[in-house]
Amino acid sequence: MSINPQPLHLGAAWYPEHWTEARWAEDIRLMKEAGFTVARLGEFAWSTLEPAEGDFRLDWLARAIDLLAENGIRAVLGTPTAAPPAWLTTRYPDTLAVNEHGQRYEHGKRCHYCVNSPTYHERVRSLVGALAERFGGHPNVIGWQIDNEFGTVCYCDTCRAEFQGYLREKFGTLESLNEHWATAYWSQTYTDWGQIPLPRQGHNPGLLLAFREFVTRSYRRFQRLQIDLLRPHLREGVWITHNFMDWWDAFDHYALSADLDLASWDWYVPSGHHDPLRDGAMHDLVRGFKRQNFWVMETQPGSINWTGVNSTLNKGEARAMAWHAVGHGADGLLYWQWRPAPNGQEQYHGSLVDQSGQPRPFFEEAARIGTEFARVSGLLAGSTVAAEIAILHDYPSRWSLDGQRHHKDFGYVRHLLHYYKPLAKRSLPVDILPPDAPLDPEKYKLVIAPALAVITPARAETLRAYTEGGGTLILTLRSGVKDACDALLPSRPPGPLAELAGVEVEEYYALAKAVPLHGRQFTGTAKIWAERLHILEEEGYGTQVIAEYGDAGGFGWLDGFPAVTAHPVGEGAVYYFGGYVEETAQDKLIGMVCESLGLESPLKTPRGVELCQRVTPDGEKIYILVNHQAKQQKFDIPWAVRDHISGYAGKGQVILPPYGVVVLTILDL
Ligand code: GAL
Repeated sequence: MSINPQPLHLGAAWYPEHWTEARWAEDIRLMKEAGFTVARLGEFAWSTLEPAEGDFRLDWLARAIDLLAENGIRAVLGTPTAAPPAWLTTRYPDTLAVNEHGQRYEHGKRCHYCVNSPTYHERVRSLVGALAERFGGHPNVIGWQIDNEFGTVCYCDTCRAEFQGYLREKFGTLESLNEHWATAYWSQTYTDWGQIPLPRQGHNPGLLLAFREFVTRSYRRFQRLQIDLLRPHLREGVWITHNFMDWWDAFDHYALSADLDLASWDWYVPSGHHDPLRDGAMHDLVRGFKRQNFWVMETQPGSINWTGVNSTLNKGEARAMAWHAVGHGADGLLYWQWRPAPNGQEQYHGSLVDQSGQPRPFFEEAARIGTEFARVSGLLAGSTVAAEIAILHDYPSRWSLDGQRHHKDFGYVRHLLHYYKPLAKRSLPVDILPPDAPLDPEKYKLVIAPALAVITPARAETLRAYTEGGGTLILTLRSGVKDACDALLPSRPPGPLAELAGVEVEEYYALAKAVPLHGRQFTGTAKIWAERLHILEEEGYGTQVIAEYGDAGGFGWLDGFPAVTAHPVGEGAVYYFGGYVEETAQDKLIGMVCESLGLESPLKTPRGVELCQRVTPDGEKIYILVNHQAKQQKFDIPWAVRDHISGYAGKGQVILPPYGVVVLTILDL
């Protein structure tokens, strides 16, 4: 058996059960021709694997995996639990989830099971157990994907009872729950656990936040159930993942990732074009789930089928996207899907081969990526992204703020990206991390904590230790307002962070109109949100005003008050951005902070060309330059380099064709 040992994988989702077995050899021949090294299969195949309860038909899957192996293509197996068969949902209707309007989902969709249904757990145990036993030790299976894109929130009676049980565990007594949720408000007071509802519409913020924790726990338990069935059967080095959906907020992805070996995600661009700043952040987010390299488990081969206009990526754009993903830490990339099923909901989705079984025009681009991945795979082995900047991303703060935006244009992720984008534009690598990640000031020169609304003593302590150890921290508006139960803290924001920030917030304003901002080195405006800051003990603290609010034409409440401040702490500093600074000024401000910390990209690139960096285990830097635009770009570089894609070695200038990519190392001439 010849197995391709490459660490950088390219492949597709392959559903052999949609076609006669006679076709498989041709599919695999074409996969090889495209340089594919991996196929993902089994993912929705429950009705083929277990056509009747307990009647397992696994031989076809074994034959498909063996055929892949004979051709040097590795297999990733999906547990097909996102798509229960009709016999199951009919015999056990309680396995179907209930939506927030009280209706049970119907058969024929996906991800429509009740994640807490004991009957469903039992059926899953039986099937996944059989799969684990049969394929866990298969030498061609390199990884497992649990389920598909967790996301459905169920409102059935089982879930309600489970939620009440969760609250009992969390709070111990109803007195405690009532106090934390301040249920005297609107007479929400509970005198029996059974009275507590599921939040079908808006509700008490404490209940809403606890419900998200409960959804997290439910999926974690469901995922764990499958991991525990698989693990004992797996060969060493075989990983388990789940394919997440980027910023999806139904549950805390850090909690689920803790039980996985590898984080992966599904990357689609409904706008029809790649947005490198937005998409780069999503890669960084997923790299942060386990703080290690990740896989793009699905991406579009040209087009999708589920948006208004399902336009196709420009020629060459998918190649730039593939390299961009690798530049941000992807070690595998798989297209969805290999070939469309003759029927079913996704007939018009992009694929590598069409309904006739012949390669589509996109195939050629995928094959080019396959050749290039093979060339640099050895070079990239073991390398990862080494960022000096971290942005903290917190699900509880996000749930809290997105539940009470106060201004329709305020969104937690949008606000986070407002800080990410000026860094990405400068090609500065960023780690997006959970707020409780260790923050070593030796590693991170700058940490940004956007709208860290929920603050606990432990979090405040981590941030204090980081800045006192020499780190620079940016805190932003809406920080330090809530406790872990989403109750308002009995202090002015940023609460336990006020001393660090050297300021407190006297008042906050959702802005109908922009407010002018004046800084020593710039002018601009604040929009959406502005906080009136009060500087604490001006003299002792040495807090500087970086920008103040100007005359807002009659509004008056903010005139002349500080909007952005900097407070020296130990060796470090804490900035507080009380105004939602508009893009141009934001770019300048973030640029100033980076400059003051010596954070700059080793190479000046023209607009639209991103420099991504991966570092090998022995410290060698690999520069992946991606031209995100459909026009040629030419620029000077101060090094002699080798391009590991084309083999070219030289110095002086880089010429990148539209969507061009080079993978460079510096030559010691
Ligand atoms: C994903 C899903 C795939 C496929 C794809 C189509 O969300 O995981 O199975 O449906 O969308 O774009």
